[in-house]
Amino acid sequence: MNGYCCIACATTQAADFAGFVCPSCGSNLDVSYDYEAIREEFVQDFDYSPFLPVSRLVTPFPLRVGRTPLIAATRLGKSLGLGDLYIKDETRNPSASIKDRATEVALRRARDVGAETVAVASTGNAGSSLACLAAALDMRAVVFVPENAPIAKLTQALSFGATVLAVRGNYDDAFDLCLQASSEFGWFNRSTGYNPFTREGKKTCAYEIWEDLGRRVPDRVLVPTGDGNVLSGMWKGWCDLHAAGLIDKLPRIDCVQSQSSAAICHTVWRIRKQGDSIPDWSTLNVDEVKATTVADSISVDRPRDGLAAVKAVIQSGGEAVTIPDKEILAAIPEIARATGVFAEPAAAAPWAAVKQLVRDQEVAPDELLVCVVSGSGLKDIDNARTAVGEPLAVDPSIDAVRDALRR
Ligand SMILES: Cc1ncc(COP(=O)(O)O)c(C=O)c1O
Ligand SMILES: [Zn+2]
Repeated sequence: MNGYCCIACATTQAADFAGFVCPSCGSNLDVSYDYEAIREEFVQDFDYSPFLPVSRLVTPFPLRVGRTPLIAATRLGKSLGLGDLYIKDETRNPSASIKDRATEVALRRARDVGAETVAVASTGNAGSSLACLAAALDMRAVVFVPENAPIAKLTQALSFGATVLAVRGNYDDAFDLCLQASSEFGWFNRSTGYNPFTREGKKTCAYEIWEDLGRRVPDRVLVPTGDGNVLSGMWKGWCDLHAAGLIDKLPRIDCVQSQSSAAICHTVWRIRKQGDSIPDWSTLNVDEVKATTVADSISVDRPRDGLAAVKAVIQSGGEAVTIPDKEILAAIPEIARATGVFAEPAAAAPWAAVKQLVRDQEVAPDELLVCVVSGSGLKDIDNARTAVGEPLAVDPSIDAVRDALRR
């Protein structure tokens, strides 16, 4: 890395800047690189190191983060007449969500700056991820979650030995409290958006998609979105490859949100309604909503990386798609039955969005589509159960089985 650039006002900082957000305007920072120098590092072999803001990846990480499967979802695609649909199965990360990519880079950074305690505010997954990777590295983790976070995510974090603070309030309250506590106690704060390194971790997902597609660029990548950091990371990954001269086109990044938590989509629609001109990012306000979705991972009132995400959707020409919760839940067994991948509600939303885009004729049958399945269905059994119901209860007799099969 060679410094930072503010997402909003474009003020730059040198690489040794020790803060987290822009000192001029308080907005999130983007890590910058010398892409000309990076270009020269690639001859044959592509490796991620020059694109990461941490000391070269010489120390092996004790857990296998990333390198998740890209699955050809042939049957799922066929059901809509699509010929080229893929699922990026992020459920296979150590704590079973895409958050581990961000946590790995953030913890490498924390170690580089000598931090002993790392903290995060989380709807659940970033917390269980931080707890998991901190345990592997023998670091202390403090996790702030809203008190209604799904029990599986809380239990993961507790099992890994983190201090878990269940905040009587929502994610936004947890976020503000984590900021305050990190500053009070000198902790390294991994919170999404605020910490510029999380985006850098998540972008590796794009590199892998590119490699696993045989160095092809998809037409669209569909990303479940709450704070917008997974989405802005996905865009950054493709932009890195482009800036380093490794690809010559960019995918559209489609923002997928619940109808009941759609701050980023509302903002994109508002900008597009005003015409084609690129807005002044330094004065753009991202909408706030009162989120009520059952998809807890993407339930966000005030997106913490909203501006970067809105920019990514506008610059990539992506769609902003909102899905009713009922369709999000219905997507869980559809993906599971056609691919063998069990998604939590947020992670099932991209497939629901594909269906909606096909219905609205926004997607052509021959487009190369990638759905980011960002977290495991085991993290939120209650919502999956709503979608699939109960098993058939039978007495222990073959006649009862026969009866049940007829029902
Ligand atoms: C499984 C899963 N999918 C998607 C997201 C959305 O990421 P972001 O909040 O960066 O938009 C999250 C965030 O918690 C998540 O845990
Ligand atoms: Zn700024």
